[in-house]
Amino acid sequence: MNIETVMVIGAGQMGAGIAQVFAASGYQVSLYDVDQKNTQKGIEGIDKRLKKQVGKGSLSAKEYEEIMERLHLANEITAAQKADLIVEAVVEKMEVKQAIFAELDSLAPSHTVLATNTSSLPITEIAAVTTRPEKVIGMHFMNPVPVMKLVEIIRGLATTDEVYQAVYETTKKLNKTPVEVHDFPGFVSNRILMPMINEAVFTLYEGVANEEDIDQVMKLGMNHPMGPLTLADFIGLDTCLFIMETLHKGFGDDKYRPCPLLRKYVKAGWLGRKTGKGFFTYE
Ligand code: CAA
Ligand code: NAD
Repeated sequence: MNIETVMVIGAGQMGAGIAQVFAASGYQVSLYDVDQKNTQKGIEGIDKRLKKQVGKGSLSAKEYEEIMERLHLANEITAAQKADLIVEAVVEKMEVKQAIFAELDSLAPSHTVLATNTSSLPITEIAAVTTRPEKVIGMHFMNPVPVMKLVEIIRGLATTDEVYQAVYETTKKLNKTPVEVHDFPGFVSNRILMPMINEAVFTLYEGVANEEDIDQVMKLGMNHPMGPLTLADFIGLDTCLFIMETLHKGFGDDKYRPCPLLRKYVKAGWLGRKTGKGFFTYE
């Protein structure tokens, strides 16, 4: 199984980061978003980050040019016809992901592996809408993608060893560390992280401390690089809520009940950094 050409679907914070690391590791990459403004913004973000690296001397001007040459903006989803691997990174909603996987399945060549960057949704259920469940896999990158070393790899019920091995080797070529986890809601990362974030929101909701102090406790007391509320804003409060809902529904246990304050912020459109307002305000 030879992976040379990659397509990334969704050019938000994760999709743009994923496209960047593939292009930086020598892959030909096309980046597609349903909203072309987001694709443009995604490419501009990559350009800015790489130029910053050039400025710091950690990337040469030649390497910068080569990476940007490998990166292509796709106006149509039909670019899937040329991909060996497709990584989907759109909104964390089962019905949206299933619709995309069904479309990709009809467009992509039979050898193409379809991966999802889902944070919590069952891979098996996404794979079930395709005619190639054996080639569907979870490839869960962490945010910010160019910095974080981990990729959780999740097989669906039908994923073959060959596909798993190809994705495992590809992850290593990205200079990331793959860890295989089983197909359970939230996998390992978000089963542990997201209840902590949700509990931080409950702590705020119940007036135990204010936003700054909750974050300060976890930063100075537990050496976390970001406090949980800052991290929630960084991830996106909509994504945090969708993940909590998946855990709550998937395990049927009330310990995963999303905090009402989290719901309220999402309803208000306060999604964190990406909208300029969440638990904190951003320029
Ligand atoms: N995109 C790309 N690169 C970024 C970045 C971003 N958004 N933010 C920071 N960086 C880079 C900087 O350019 C810098 O690179 P160099 O070392 O090459 O100069 C490096 O990261 C360090 O940045 P800073 O010095 O500005 O800031 P920092 O030391 O505070 O680190 C951080 C920033 C890496 C984001 C750090 O705060 C951190 O590790 N935060 C926690 C991140 C985390 O927990 N991620 C997981 C989220 S959960 C998830 O992803 C799973 C899910 O499904 C929700
Ligand atoms: P985001 O909101 O920043 O970006 C999502 C992008 O998908 C948007 O640009 C949107 O226009 C696009 N999109 C929506 N529907 C589409 C469609 N039908 N076809 C093509 N593009 C479409 O979201 P994000 O934070 O990048 O998250 C994307 C995925 O990655 C989610 O599944 C999320 O759970 C997962 N994830 C997020 C994080 C995080 O920290 N934010 C970390 C790991 C995984």
